[in-house]
Amino acid sequence: MAGGRVRVAIAGVGWAGTRHVEAIRELGRKLTVECLVDYDADFLREKSAELGVEKTYGSVDDAISDTNVDVIAICLPHRDHCEVAIAAAESGRHVLVEKPMATTVEEATRMIAAAGHAGVTLFVAENLPYTSMSATLRRMVESGDPIGEVVSASIVTGFRAEQYGYPGRRAWLSTPEAGGGGQWLLNGIHMIAQLRYVFGEIEDVYLRHHHSSRVDRTDVEATLTGTLTTAAGYSIALMQSHEVYLSGGLGGLTVFGD
Ligand SMILES: NC(=O)c1ccc[n+]([C@@H]2O[C@H](COP(=O)([O-])OP(=O)(O)OC[C@H]3O[C@@H](n4cnc5c(N)ncnc54)[C@H](O)[C@@H]3O)[C@@H](O)[C@H]2O)c1
Repeated sequence: MAGGRVRVAIAGVGWAGTRHVEAIRELGRKLTVECLVDYDADFLREKSAELGVEKTYGSVDDAISDTNVDVIAICLPHRDHCEVAIAAAESGRHVLVEKPMATTVEEATRMIAAAGHAGVTLFVAENLPYTSMSATLRRMVESGDPIGEVVSASIVTGFRAEQYGYPGRRAWLSTPEAGGGGQWLLNGIHMIAQLRYVFGEIEDVYLRHHHSSRVDRTDVEATLTGTLTTAAGYSIALMQSHEVYLSGGLGGLTVFGD
């Protein structure tokens, strides 16, 4: 802390890292961006100028060695979340890690243990529970108003069908090597966070995933269907499909394809 402000190192200044800088500035009062970290030197220079942050590092280790850093915000490829979080925690830094927390349960467990051992905060930057939609759904489930006792739910969520991923420098997001999985780990995980916020802990999981043979990415999961049962007994049907449902003031529209 300096002048009452928590100093944050942004590790990875791509899409999410840039949003973190913007959000810290919007919050203003108690946080400040101490430095930017990215191993792509040209991109880092560009971002440093664009975002007006002078202090930069080419490796997370250098940011961890900087005694002016209180928090490491991990906005890196999924494969790096675990080791960077553990190194940051062991150095006494608090950790904010972008979703998905890790690529395996074993990694997530090690991260929690490291933070617990070091006595630092480990927080997963999962945004969906903070939306007004999540708050409204939770209120409806808790109060039974206006539809009475909720007994089940079904959720359909869309995805980028063209490639099951993103183009350009963000293509790593849905590769098994750097992303750890496909659409489900990348986008479906938001939905699980929202479900847990609305319905409580999930106790039982039945899921099937399928790999498409007709798109670029056949090596990662494409669509998923399944059922979750919560500890409170809610049964939730899940489907990640090639379909987006839009709801508007005058009606709804289901869109298939790209
Ligand atoms: N919460 C959300 O809604 C949301 C949205 C998008 C992405 N994300 C998450 O944010 C994280 C980052 O995704 P992104 O879309 O910003 O990716 P990105 O590719 O835009 O940014 C990642 C950056 O990390 C840098 N990098 C990669 N390996 C590095 C290393 N070892 N050391 C230093 N820099 C390194 C890359 O050069 C790149 O600039 C992921 O966990 C992703 O799932 C969350």
